[in-house]
Order: sequence, then C-alpha cells, then structure tokens
Amino acid sequence: MSLRLGDTAPDFTATTTEGQINFYEFLGDSWGVLFSHPADYTPVCTTELGRTALLKEEFAKRNVKVLAVSVDPLDKHQGWVKDINETQNCNVDFPIIADENREVAGLYDMIHPNASATATVRSLFIIGPDKLIKLMIIYPASTGRNFFEVLRVIDSLQLTAKHSVATPADWKNGENVIVVPAVSTEDAYKKFPKGLEIVKPYLRYTPVPDEN
Ligand code: BEZ
Repeated sequence: MSLRLGDTAPDFTATTTEGQINFYEFLGDSWGVLFSHPADYTPVCTTELGRTALLKEEFAKRNVKVLAVSVDPLDKHQGWVKDINETQNCNVDFPIIADENREVAGLYDMIHPNASATATVRSLFIIGPDKLIKLMIIYPASTGRNFFEVLRVIDSLQLTAKHSVATPADWKNGENVIVVPAVSTEDAYKKFPKGLEIVKPYLRYTPVPDEN
C-alpha cells in the first residue's frame, strides 16, 4: 500500500556505503531525508548526489540526516561514489543504501511500474523527529531535483511545526509568514508580538516568529 503524509515512515535495516544501518537508529532525534535514484553511474543522479554532499552544512544546520537509495549493489555504489567526488568536487559521506533486493524501494513504493518496471523513480521523503512522513515529492528519472527547494520546504516544515503559521507561495526563510485560520485575530496579536499585516480577515501576515 502506498504511503501518505502523516503515516509512520517504515523502519528498515540495510547495507549502505557507511555500513549496516537501522533507519530509526540512524535518524535518532533528527529530521530525515530519504531519496531514491534510478541507478548508479547515471548522469543526473551523479549531479544530485554531488549537490547533496555539497549542501552538507545546510542539512546539518537544520538537524537533517540524509540517506540515498539505489537498487544497485554495494561495490558498484563504492566505485560510483569515487566518480561523484571527482566530477562534482565533493565528498559523499552520507549513506547510500545498496537496495539490491528492492526492500526499501518496496516499503516506500519507489518503483512505479508504468514508468519503469525495475528502476526506482526519484522519490523523496522528509521525515520528522516523530518518524512521521511530513512531505513527499516524486520526480521522473529524467528530471533532477532542486535541492534548494528541499531545504526551503524543510525550513517551512520546521517553522510550521513550532508556530501556528503557514508559508505562502514561493516563501523563502526570513520572509513574512501567514497566520493559520484557526487562530483568531485577537489571539494572533498576543501570539505574534512582531505585529500583523491584515490584508483580509483570512489573509494575515506576520514576521517569522522568534525561536522558542
Ligand atoms: C540519470 O540519472 O541520469 C538518468 C537515469 C535514468 C534515466 C534518465 C537519466
């Protein structure tokens, strides 16, 4: 059965380029990004894994651990990682699962038979510290993902998990956010001391609330 937002992310133990990993232990209390790749030694995947490695500090700042999935064997991953490091000027040090038996791909419904009977599509799951699935995006093999968008949605998810706000179209961290409809305007003035911009009774902006 396919997974939906709010479902518990399935746990698994897998062989990876960083050794045997239990997913939940690997995540600990962190947020997680689990993302699949059609195959090793493919050009788009090479750029995606390179980009992920180069964004290491950005993921770390947000307390996010990343884990890639590809259905090729471990020795193939290890050779490919050398190519990624060489061609993308990076150091891939996050785990890549060797999902030869397609166990993780199956658990997360990453094979879409009408796209390809054997290769995974580009599925990406963001998992909260509570192990619930917060976001899923699925791209076809031919389109590389936008990892700045991945960071942007993590910023939104982390902010909206803490405060009664939502983020508008094309929002970027630091820009004004929207007060959720469930909060009355009277309460919003108390909750958001930085002030409100009331465009319509249902469209109310406030600056990004302070941490805490
Ligand atoms: C790639 O990763 O480059 C790729 C994989 C499958 C189809 C097209 C491109």
